[in-house]
Amino acid sequence: MDVGLLGTGHYVPTNVVTNKDMEKIVDTSDEWIRTRTGIEERRIADDDIDTSDMAYYAAKNALDDAGLKAEDLDMIMVATVTPDQPFPSVACMLQDRLGANTVAAMDISAACSGFMYGLVTAKQFIETNAYKNILVIGVEKLSKITDWSDRNTCVLFGDGAGAAVVGPVSEGKGILSFELGSNGAGGKELYQNKEDHLIMNGREVFKFAVRQMPQSSVNVVEKAGYNKEDVDYLIPHQANIRIMEAARERLGIPEEKMAMSIKKYGNTSAASIPIALSEDVKSGKIKDNDLVVMVGFGGGLTWGAIALRW
Ligand code: ACO
Repeated sequence: MDVGLLGTGHYVPTNVVTNKDMEKIVDTSDEWIRTRTGIEERRIADDDIDTSDMAYYAAKNALDDAGLKAEDLDMIMVATVTPDQPFPSVACMLQDRLGANTVAAMDISAACSGFMYGLVTAKQFIETNAYKNILVIGVEKLSKITDWSDRNTCVLFGDGAGAAVVGPVSEGKGILSFELGSNGAGGKELYQNKEDHLIMNGREVFKFAVRQMPQSSVNVVEKAGYNKEDVDYLIPHQANIRIMEAARERLGIPEEKMAMSIKKYGNTSAASIPIALSEDVKSGKIKDNDLVVMVGFGGGLTWGAIALRW
């Protein structure tokens, strides 16, 4: 059975924080942030909006887009490293709030690769006929764990949520191939410390990402039986424009065929790929039958890529 996305949705907080605003918080400049990262502004959730709230709005949006109701769901998975609390999971909170049946619900911890891990996990349950419709969400309130005095990291991140309903699709469509991986030895380069702050060795993460994202992108295209020339659209994890460009150049595709929400939202970790996907499907940038590559990397270290026929 072929497995694909029946609907997508996203939510971003209304509060816009520009690079100029960041200049008032740490010793940085709009010019430095733009040229080193591609980020122009990010959304930061107010105190009364937690991770589960953003996940809920994105989920409702994806269910509407799929033309399904919460009762139609057979499983709920939420990829996040910033849950409201370690337990109950955000997925269980959503099961209740959406009014879904008492189906399986769990959070996935794979940092920025989490949405890729979620989609691939959903595919297994559907392919084996265990379940039909699975809600997969990538959501982060990174502002909760951002050290607002550390200019090396605080300028990079934003809050938001993206969601997809995964289910059976017509033959030849949907997820064609995937690659997931991890290297725990690199865990020390990107982690949450005892003070609950995100700590990152930017240069090491950059080196890893600039190698892994292009390689995984090519791998899934080849696994699907295609050449890189066949790729219609690329959605790389929106972490740094220079890393994204490395993947785009390796695939040899033009600028307008790569998702570029980093400018508006910064790095939203697990939410970055599903937010870009939802926006670019709705704006018509992703069209029926397009060969789409999604590729992410993140803390763990982890990585994941998917080639998908839209
Ligand atoms: N404003 C001004 N100067 C700054 C800032 C800032 N916001 N941040 C760092 N600098 C300074 C540094 O202190 C350094 O100064 P020094 O040379 O005097 O020490 C200088 O700028 C250059 O620093 P580099 O680290 O060499 O800058 P680089 O060009 O590598 O860019 C960056 C840094 C943007 C963090 C880059 O390394 C990067 O993007 N790395 C990957 C990060 C990433 O993708 N993370 C994704 C995972 S996140 C997750 O999983 C949640």
